Amino acid sequence: MSHDAELVRAFRARWGETPVVFRAPGRVNLIGEFTDYNDGFVMPAALTLSTWVAAGKRPDRVLTVHSENFGESREFTLDEPSPQGSQHWSDYVYGVAVILQRAGYRLGGANLLICGEVPIGAGLSSSAALEVATAMAFLDFAGITVAPTEIAKLCQRAENEFVGVQCGIMDQFVACHGSPGEALMLDCRSLAFRRARLPAGIGLVICNTMVHHELARGEYNQRRADCSAGVRHMARVLPHVTALRDVTRSELEKYGRTMDATVYRRCRHVVSENERVEQAFTALQDGALDRFGDLMRASHYSLRDDFEVSCPELDILVDIASDLPGVYGSRMTGGGFGGCTVSLVQKEYADTFSNTLQRRYRESTGRDPTMYRQFPS
Ligand code: GLA
Repeated sequence: MSHDAELVRAFRARWGETPVVFRAPGRVNLIGEFTDYNDGFVMPAALTLSTWVAAGKRPDRVLTVHSENFGESREFTLDEPSPQGSQHWSDYVYGVAVILQRAGYRLGGANLLICGEVPIGAGLSSSAALEVATAMAFLDFAGITVAPTEIAKLCQRAENEFVGVQCGIMDQFVACHGSPGEALMLDCRSLAFRRARLPAGIGLVICNTMVHHELARGEYNQRRADCSAGVRHMARVLPHVTALRDVTRSELEKYGRTMDATVYRRCRHVVSENERVEQAFTALQDGALDRFGDLMRASHYSLRDDFEVSCPELDILVDIASDLPGVYGSRMTGGGFGGCTVSLVQKEYADTFSNTLQRRYRESTGRDPTMYRQFPS
């Protein structure tokens, strides 16, 4: 039975009426990590795994939210004068409502039943999928049409202003615009994007370390602050620089050496990663998958050594993957400190690759990783 049907049944059992179901996908980022909030380039792909929101209108100004994943409910009023987040999964839902209202959209009360297939806290954007599916529900019920890019921006704002994570636009954008089987090459400054079909002969193998780093949120915001410090430094000599996107490798080399050493390494990651995304897009269009894989590996090492957002378990997975037959490349994906790696493999090797990676990771770490395979058709 489809997710849709199960959710409708559960909604009816809880609230006695038939809901409307909204859905948004998780994503895997192929390359371009921590470049989005530096006005740079990213290349994510939507997953076949989604978050589903079954919604029914209420006559009052109350939001009731129940998560099937957590088996928990929360209730909010849309008229709360100073709404606050509570570091709870429901912040993503309530935060979207708060921001939509701040943006001038008048919402009505709703009952929401949430069910997510995107693993939570694994770097595959379960939160952006939840935000986007929720925003679609609220806007639809209010009879308001908002363009997908605007929905992405509003959901990013919810995460920045309400949840308290200074994330970029990538996750919400791909949740609004992405389809499985294709990568989006997104310019996070102009928000212009191009689609590239993933070749039919490959598989994406995603491996969840099962490590969830408690400090990830603080570290994330710290990295963003480091990048801002780098921009301030570079702008003193190059006044046109408003984001690390505007800095070339040679400029960084020439003028960045007097920065704080950590800030310099953070900048070096971002500047080199932007170059890698552009090269990777060309490689994908040319079918140069070995080249694409080399860029994935280089991205991982840069995240590990310069941006310092990897962790031993992610590094172990990338090391194991690099020796296995049929692999083009492998890297951590998403916000880091745990979560998942993504490997690009030849389709006919995907099963053996996945089984061997799983077994060898288990042997090395004692953790049992969850594997996800995505095959473009
Ligand atoms: C998280 C954020 C994104 C992006 C990535 C790192 O997923 O939500 O905006 O910064 O980390 O690339």
